[in-house]
Amino acid sequence: MIDVADVKKSFRSGERTVEALRGVTCHIPKGRFAFIVGPSGSGKSTLLYLLGALDRPTSGRIVVSGTDLTAMSEAEQNHYRRDRIGFIFQAFNLISNLTAVENVLVPYLPRGLTPELERRAVELLTQVGLGGRVDHRPYQLSGGEQQRVAIARALIKDPEVVLADEPTGELDSKAGDEVYRILRRLQAERQTTLVVVTHDRRFINPDDLVLEIQDGLLKTDESEHQRNLIGAEV
Ligand SMILES: Nc1ncnc2c1ncn2[C@@H]1O[C@H](COP(=O)(O)OP(=O)(O)OP(=O)(O)O)[C@@H](O)[C@H]1O
Ligand SMILES: [Mg+2]
Repeated sequence: MIDVADVKKSFRSGERTVEALRGVTCHIPKGRFAFIVGPSGSGKSTLLYLLGALDRPTSGRIVVSGTDLTAMSEAEQNHYRRDRIGFIFQAFNLISNLTAVENVLVPYLPRGLTPELERRAVELLTQVGLGGRVDHRPYQLSGGEQQRVAIARALIKDPEVVLADEPTGELDSKAGDEVYRILRRLQAERQTTLVVVTHDRRFINPDDLVLEIQDGLLKTDESEHQRNLIGAEV
């Protein structure tokens, strides 16, 4: 369902060009829990943002459920981000003067709210254990609670893909466990495809897909490349 073909991404800063991704190829099937791991600066967030159409690759192709992200117009990218992708960031990114339930409804503010949507926002907050906190503002919530509001905000669109960048990076281990319990439930109940960048391998299960990235390349790609080279020699 997610197909990444020879994706390269470079950033220009002044005279210098940083090659953040140097040719990444991978396939993430629908409903899989995929982790992107690797050292700091290896290109994890860059890859995740490209999957979310928050940026465009320099070359290569990304196809999500039959839609070629690289061929989309700006407007199509906006719709894709708004309707099909749930984003969860390390720093929660909640709006400080809105309550928990209002934050969950943020994706719908430009289009207008309905009682049905408001009911669903409360239901999602209840599902992530915040039924008693719907009218709290972010400063009245713990970090773990804020991240659960952010998860509910990602889920209100019933997205086919959830992209998370170090969702437990600022949480203690108990709050981190809770975040992964919610994400696992989502995978089991809705067959949502999850792509999560993490430094914490203890959340990875044996049948998850692990994309290990180093210096802008997938390590699995490299070993495949090696095998092909060896194959070509014999
Ligand atoms: N907008 C940008 N402009 C210039 N360089 C960038 C930009 N975004 C990322 N880079 C560079 O691309 C490389 C990969 O960055 P990226 O954020 O993907 O790393 P990461 O693996 O997510 O690291 P971390 O674990 O520290 O979050 C880094 O060298 C970074 O400095
Ligand atoms: Mg990062």
